[in-house]
Amino acid sequence: MQLTIFGTGYVGLVTAACLSDVGHNVACIDIDASRIAALNEGKIPIYEPGLKELVIRNAEAKRLSFSTDSAHGVRHGEIIFIAVGTPAMEDGSADVRYVQAVADTIGKHIESYKVIVNKSTVPVGSAEMVDARIRAVLNARGSNVEFDVCSNPEFLKEGSAVEDFMRPARIIVGTSSQRVREAMQECYAPYNRNHDKLMTMDVRAAELTKYAANAMLATKISFMNEIANIAEHLGADIEQVRRGIGSDPRIGYHFIYPGAGYGGSCFPKDVRALAKVAHDHGHQPELLDAVESVNERQKDQLFAKLSLALDGEIKGRRIAVWGLAFKPNTDDMREAPSRALLESIWAAGGTVSAFDPESMDETRKIYGERADLVLAKNADEAAKGADALVICTEWKQFRVADFEWLRQNLRNPIIVDGRNLYDPERVRQQGLLYLAIGRGDSLRQADVKSMQAERKRNVA
Ligand code: UDX
Repeated sequence: MQLTIFGTGYVGLVTAACLSDVGHNVACIDIDASRIAALNEGKIPIYEPGLKELVIRNAEAKRLSFSTDSAHGVRHGEIIFIAVGTPAMEDGSADVRYVQAVADTIGKHIESYKVIVNKSTVPVGSAEMVDARIRAVLNARGSNVEFDVCSNPEFLKEGSAVEDFMRPARIIVGTSSQRVREAMQECYAPYNRNHDKLMTMDVRAAELTKYAANAMLATKISFMNEIANIAEHLGADIEQVRRGIGSDPRIGYHFIYPGAGYGGSCFPKDVRALAKVAHDHGHQPELLDAVESVNERQKDQLFAKLSLALDGEIKGRRIAVWGLAFKPNTDDMREAPSRALLESIWAAGGTVSAFDPESMDETRKIYGERADLVLAKNADEAAKGADALVICTEWKQFRVADFEWLRQNLRNPIIVDGRNLYDPERVRQQGLLYLAIGRGDSLRQADVKSMQAERKRNVA
């Protein structure tokens, strides 16, 4: 099929690359000329496993093209995907102005029947809004061209977006039109062979499904973080509790890992946007508000634990940080818990030596060159001579640590672990103070006290 994707951001690019790889002819349109020029040279603006190979292979095969020519884009696609950004506005609601701009562009150039697909995460009612805008522009042109607008939300995880696209759990299409259903079935047929994963539903239900899925997953995480915090007060180990509850198939093992709070481009933004829309429609979303506030509080946990371990003395100290990205296998720093930590350390007068396998450039872009941030070449360099080590992201390479080396090379043998990577007993046996998430704090308070006493004796 001839397909067009407006927007070469994360979702647009993955969607385009994957659809071209199964044989569709895909035109990508973006208003950002430098981005298009880079893509035409095979430079991929984001890090996503497998994406670069797909883009290069399909561009070479002439199934995937990049341009700023929106008139060409509208002509090219039988199906036109809108996959532009919907950033959060100050009040939490989604800013749909880029979606509106694409709708206006389609209205300006459309000459024959098209299926228009909202792929971006947009508020409920957006398909109707896009329909109305295209119609308004057509009316102003004095033209009457047939088209349909449907919703087809994405459920891609960063770090496995290509894989998620190729093997979807479900393909949701919000439409009441048989013509749209047939077109979307043809488009997704290569991913939909063994059993029919394409679910059609009302357009508003499809739009809400996307928000509900993310809000549900965020709720699971905040719930676990809440229980982890309770476990600390009660001296219970959350990792044992996690296994205990996950074994119940009604609960399941997925998305119940306690940690430093969820981040990324979706959960924080979507939970807030759904809550805002609920408020605006006269419903008090008590649970969603709590999911958000529990998460905000959780992001402060690492600094709180660090302060506890260092007896509140952060000023003038250097803290090693392993992992900056909001999760492994991505360079994305959006709403990453590491940022709350770094900013708290700086506010308290401390400095940071950090290492992340992928997001060093991103970190540099966000914070620039500054004296209180050293971006180390590797994990050891970050840790060497630091006053304590904090782990923010569960990259594979941090899962195995040389505790003996750390004890000798950290100025204070302290590990604050926001991802529960290690067996607490093992770390403690190696002579390190280990503060993780929800792992029996009663034990730890005693450890911390004796450790602080020992340090004071050494200093004296
Ligand atoms: C998410 C959804 O999973 C995806 O379906 C949607 O389309 C976009 O948002 P993503 O943001 O890439 O994807 O990351 P995900 O792997 O879902 O993790 C989100 C955050 O939750 C991360 O910060 C992660 O560390 C955290 N998390 C996840 C936990 O703290 N505990 C868990 O058990 C799982």
